[in-house]
Amino acid sequence: MTHASYPALRLRRPRATAWSRALHAENRLSPADFIWPLFVTEGDGVEEPIGALPGVSRWSVDRIVDRAREARDAGIPCLGLFPNTPIERRSDDGAEALNPDNLMCRAIRAIKDAVPDIGVLTDVALDPYTVHGQDGLLDPTGYVVNDATIDVLIGQSLNQAAAGADIIAPSDMMDGRVGAIREALEEEGHANVQIMAYAAKYASAFYSPFRDAVGSRGLLKGDKKNYQMDPANGEEALREVALDLAEGADSVMVKPGLPYLDIVARVRDRFAVPVFAYQVSGEYAMIEHAAAAGTGDRDGLILETLMAFKRAGCSGVLTYHALHAARLLGA
Ligand code: PBG
Repeated sequence: MTHASYPALRLRRPRATAWSRALHAENRLSPADFIWPLFVTEGDGVEEPIGALPGVSRWSVDRIVDRAREARDAGIPCLGLFPNTPIERRSDDGAEALNPDNLMCRAIRAIKDAVPDIGVLTDVALDPYTVHGQDGLLDPTGYVVNDATIDVLIGQSLNQAAAGADIIAPSDMMDGRVGAIREALEEEGHANVQIMAYAAKYASAFYSPFRDAVGSRGLLKGDKKNYQMDPANGEEALREVALDLAEGADSVMVKPGLPYLDIVARVRDRFAVPVFAYQVSGEYAMIEHAAAAGTGDRDGLILETLMAFKRAGCSGVLTYHALHAARLLGA
């Protein structure tokens, strides 16, 4: 036996025991990394399971408050809210988004009343309010018009901020909306309301369970490719992020999550700003179906994918697994 037969370095050495693995871990997941998206629906005492999202329900306002308490008790710092607007309140112009008593605003107020120490993030886009399921206003050809849509998004943002939203998250992908919303928030006395821009949001096949959840799937005509990004593009994501930051975004989001971790890592390297990823509905469903089919251990799949976001450089993750993962992590 000669010394040449020994490996120069044994990278397995620090992996040998649990205490040593803990000591050498480069990243850690905690409940504080999560934003929990919740779906709100009309009624009292209502829980409506969503078929396309096993384990996820729509909740009436009274019951969403219970979810907020659970989240706080599990150490989750922030909720994201999405309304399932009744069909009779949807219109071509999405005017219900401006109603100070709409489902979203009632949910925000109820949560902030009952659980003031949890953050509330609200999605800004018109798709839960339009009869055509698009995120903005249409011209006669069906094209989503940019600048007129922004006027409505400003009103929607101010409506949410007045109800108590802490983070406004424009998911519509109109050009220039972050700057316009920022200016309006400042002018109307909401200087401390943050903007998390859905900066690199792709036209993705992974959103369809979400569209079921907010009731826009059957309504949607066409696709969203003339405003959401082409999955072929990476450089363009950096331009989107640069613009949203210049317009005053406090943080940026990449969406979907796992298929776009390269974008997360590039944004983080280039800009050194808080980056969030949205592990979207189709990703959630994929994990649930894989686990149900016996492909892998459910908790293992959940925690491994969530850790991947941290490793890629995320400050946090929007995930439908937030409550379960937070409990696994033992807040
Ligand atoms: C609305 C919006 C969508 C999602 C979040 N905000 C759907 C879409 O753009 O069609 C998707 C989230 C998910 O799939 O979990 N603009």
